[in-house]
Amino acid sequence: MLFARAGLLCIWFAAAFAGTHEDLVTLVQEPVRLESPILKPKVLITILARNAAHSLPYYLGCIDRLDYPKDRIAIWAATDHNTDNSTAMLQEWLRRVQGHYHRLTQTRGPKHWPSSRFTHVMRLRQAALRAGRERWADYILFVDSDNLLTNPHVLTLLMAENLTLVAPMLESRNLYSNFWCGMTPQGYYKRTLDYMPIRQWKRLGCFPVPMVHSTFLLDLRRHGSRALAFQPPHPDYSWALDDIMVFAFSARQADVQMYICNREHYGYLPVPLNTHQTLEEEVESCAHTITEAMIEYPLEPSQYLYSPPKPQDKMGFDQIYLINLKRRLDRRQRMLQSLEVLGIEASLTEAVDGP
Ligand SMILES: *[C@@H]1O[C@H](CO)[C@@H](O)[C@H](O)[C@H]1NC(C)=O
Ligand SMILES: *[C@@H]1O[C@H](CO)[C@@H](O)[C@H](O)[C@H]1NC(C)=O
Repeated sequence: MLFARAGLLCIWFAAAFAGTHEDLVTLVQEPVRLESPILKPKVLITILARNAAHSLPYYLGCIDRLDYPKDRIAIWAATDHNTDNSTAMLQEWLRRVQGHYHRLTQTRGPKHWPSSRFTHVMRLRQAALRAGRERWADYILFVDSDNLLTNPHVLTLLMAENLTLVAPMLESRNLYSNFWCGMTPQGYYKRTLDYMPIRQWKRLGCFPVPMVHSTFLLDLRRHGSRALAFQPPHPDYSWALDDIMVFAFSARQADVQMYICNREHYGYLPVPLNTHQTLEEEVESCAHTITEAMIEYPLEPSQYLYSPPKPQDKMGFDQIYLINLKRRLDRRQRMLQSLEVLGIEASLTEAVDGP
């Protein structure tokens, strides 16, 4: 009985409001709301810092300036066994950016070093990867603590490439970069003819390569990404225990292609040092990378980190002069910034235009 009545009511309604689609819309008294945009994918950025006090202010400054909603970014940071001020610096930064990011995690490594540095790094990177998977991050960005991502759009640009594993080509003071074009049968670097045209931007695009390292973005939503690992190495792996070689091998076994992209300029990295070079040499190399990047980009240290002014000297000279025309304030600013990074004390002298 009830059903019959409901049916009748429906017919009555249909009869009363029969008409075009527009008539029905006008029944809603308010304007129809547009669908809201989709939120950006969730990214986990991993920071592994060891003896990085010299690079952290600029490195974190680049992270600060990423043009990507911070509430869609989580930070996973690990630092240990520092002989410099890295731990305190990273902690200060994490404390001050706390409210900006979706989530911050700080991990402390084991008290004692395992037998090799590489094993230790492999474990830390694997822990970061696990954290990304457990938190259902869409992407994980690995970026070494001395790589400077000067292009604030790098995340959006790399995501738009729609690739599982993609690295932004980074520049250095020489031909070194964060990718290989060839690999020996033992998994080591091999120079091939493809390298130079890509490194020198003669060919532009995204290229399949056997190795990317230092900075890369992994799409965790891809099925193939699940098999990728830094630790433990793949059962068939028999080469050196090196984090980047182990990871590249796992990608190959999982049929995940690595890509390097050079459509844009994305950032800088220092040239790696030999194992017998000292921390002072590393600091100096990093200062050169920073000043190099400053030529093209306004590179500032993170505002969320107190950086004590670097001690300056005159390199053994009686006086060092910086001669600059007052109307070229941009150049003056850049020069003063560079001198500060290099720890050089100069007196500013105003230049005059010739007669
Ligand atoms: C170490 O870093 C902390 C945090 O940025 C800072 O407060 C402290 O002064 C630094 N210490 C030295 C010796 O530079
Ligand atoms: C991205 O790649 C996937 C699979 O490779 C494809 O299904 C999808 O349509 C692509 N998306 C865009 C926007 O090209």
